[in-house]
Amino acid sequence: MLKKIDAMLAEVENLEAHSAEDIEALRIKYLSKKGSITALMADFRNVPADQKKNVGIKINELKNLALEKINSLKAQFNTSDSDSIDLDITRTAYPIQLGTRHPLTLIKNEIVDIFSRLGFSLAEGPEIEDDWHVFGAMNFAEDHPARDMQDTFFIQSHPDIILRTHTSSVQSRVMEHTQPPIRIICPGRVYRNEAISARAHCFFHQVEGLYVDENVSFTDLKQVLLLFAREMFGEGTQIRLRPSYFPFTEPSAEMDISCNICGGKGCAFCKHTGWVEILGCGMVDPAVLELNGIDSKKYKGYAFGMGVERIANLKYQVKDLRMFSENDLRFLKEFEAAN
Ligand code: DAH
Repeated sequence: MLKKIDAMLAEVENLEAHSAEDIEALRIKYLSKKGSITALMADFRNVPADQKKNVGIKINELKNLALEKINSLKAQFNTSDSDSIDLDITRTAYPIQLGTRHPLTLIKNEIVDIFSRLGFSLAEGPEIEDDWHVFGAMNFAEDHPARDMQDTFFIQSHPDIILRTHTSSVQSRVMEHTQPPIRIICPGRVYRNEAISARAHCFFHQVEGLYVDENVSFTDLKQVLLLFAREMFGEGTQIRLRPSYFPFTEPSAEMDISCNICGGKGCAFCKHTGWVEILGCGMVDPAVLELNGIDSKKYKGYAFGMGVERIANLKYQVKDLRMFSENDLRFLKEFEAAN
């Protein structure tokens, strides 16, 4: 028996393993219920009494060596162990809650996408603007009521610096350093000095469009807007243009679409007319081209501007404008699916 134990001690001393499975196999071979060391211990009761002490010490030595050896082999494999079970130790320990895009961003992206497909490229300008880009270059007369303190946020010490009241200022920002053809779509935030209510806010969002080239006509404008309306609100959508006035377009129009909430039959949203206004548009006034360094004899243009909140209301039927800026998570989470 002592010889056998000595042989096993030598064997265990030289144990090797190449994988976690090897180690488990060794544990089973020596230390499990049916393992060879366990069997030796069972045999112990047959050892003659005078040898029991020596044999007992040896068997314990063997068992401890086997345990130690297997544990040290395990430690050696521990790192590669974790690799093999596809563990990302750089991951944050808690589940990361992903945010969702704001409904106005979803609508803005959709508008910009539609016009990108029609060849318009993105242009942006500053929200803090000067009087020239917001009004002067857009052909607003010196005494135009839109310059009134009631509409525009001025900085008292610098009356020339204002918060832009419309994204039409980006038209001028682009025209002053670009010659036609110009085909741009300009989303952005605008500010007006209005009392905040369900229907008005002191800031909101617009998307401006501008196309300047040779031979641009009102027909081109109408067709592009019809395509836009159908992409945005569905194939069956109708549009109608009503004459209007803007200082920077001549002729000017406002565009209505058939109410997509009642399908044109008449409802509270469209005030029972079957139509809702969504944008202003027109042919760029030649004076605007000239004010911005573009030859109005050679080039013509069209422009349009729409409110993003208005389009979002039509799409999502949000009754109170303030919802868009209150950051109430219950409201924002409603748009998770649209992301
Ligand atoms: N800037 C106008 C507004 O804020 C909207 C607008 C109307 C823009 C007609 C245009 C346009 O480009 O042609 O009410």
